[in-house]
Amino acid sequence: MQIKNSALSMIIDASDQEELEEIKLQFLGKSGKLTQTFKEITKTPIERRPEIGSLANEVKRVIEENIENKLSALNSRLSSQRKQNIDVTSPGIKPEIGHLHPMTQVLYEVVDVFKSIGFQAADGPEIEKDHYNFEVLNIPKDHPARDTQQTLYLDTRGSKVNPGEIILRTQTSAMQGRVMEKTKPPVRVIVPGKNFRYEQLDASHGFEFWQVEGFMVDTNVRLTDLFGTIDYVLRKLMGQNIKLKFATTNFPFVEPGVDTYIECTACKGKGCGFCKNSGWSEIMPAGMIHPNVLKAVGYDAQKVSGFAFAIGVSRLVTLRYQMDDLRLLTNPDMRILEQF
Ligand code: DAH
Repeated sequence: MQIKNSALSMIIDASDQEELEEIKLQFLGKSGKLTQTFKEITKTPIERRPEIGSLANEVKRVIEENIENKLSALNSRLSSQRKQNIDVTSPGIKPEIGHLHPMTQVLYEVVDVFKSIGFQAADGPEIEKDHYNFEVLNIPKDHPARDTQQTLYLDTRGSKVNPGEIILRTQTSAMQGRVMEKTKPPVRVIVPGKNFRYEQLDASHGFEFWQVEGFMVDTNVRLTDLFGTIDYVLRKLMGQNIKLKFATTNFPFVEPGVDTYIECTACKGKGCGFCKNSGWSEIMPAGMIHPNVLKAVGYDAQKVSGFAFAIGVSRLVTLRYQMDDLRLLTNPDMRILEQF
């Protein structure tokens, strides 16, 4: 009994496999305490031998059983510890942190480039008066150019505003009037902002789109200043080796009107869905500010002149990253966003 108790208490205290092996040896080994008892049975009176024998066997069984149990308890503790343990050699998991959307990244770059050549950035309302969006820009109510800008009108029923006077702005050019009315020349301003038109969506048109409008007015501003500015800015943003071409166009608020085309980056000029198979993409409409606009904001059109332009931001982004559909930019799929 004494042997059994001391063996059991040692087993309980044992903290690893080695200790258990040691205990086993100490009691059940060749010269172990219990083995000794077995050997000594021969010295006891014959009639007591079966009793002592079976007692010793029972003690042996109990010790063995307890050692086994303890061993498996130790092992399972060890393996759960291993599971929790941090393997310092395994590579870390990169935490998923957000970043600016490619549209925002490019927008910030556009603003930086213009700031570096003396332009200031201005912000204006998305809900705009017909007056600034059209009238000031030489587009009176009956002008056919209104048809090119499918306008979303705000419901003004029940208010003091006349129907049709308040709209979602269709162009950031609307800020020309707001800024120039309040600023004497020289002015050099860009207006990054969102515009809205009731348009059919396709690979290169959205109903809600970002533009960076820009304009400069001073004494003796000429068409060549406009060309130089566009050339400088687009090469900064799209790379020095881009191909550009200018063409005449018509917008009521500029005379002459200039369309800037960049060789399509999606197809390298070969022609694709994005550039409507022309090999070129319209990127920056512009022109010399029409005297009627200068007059409408209170400037003396004899003394000052200026140019204006607009950059379509999503067009810039899709061209830069050779994306053939601008709808990818409003797709929340992480596989797209993670590439930027
Ligand atoms: N506001 C015009 C549009 O959205 C684009 C534009 C053309 C802006 C010529 C200009 C400009 O400043 O000079 O269609």
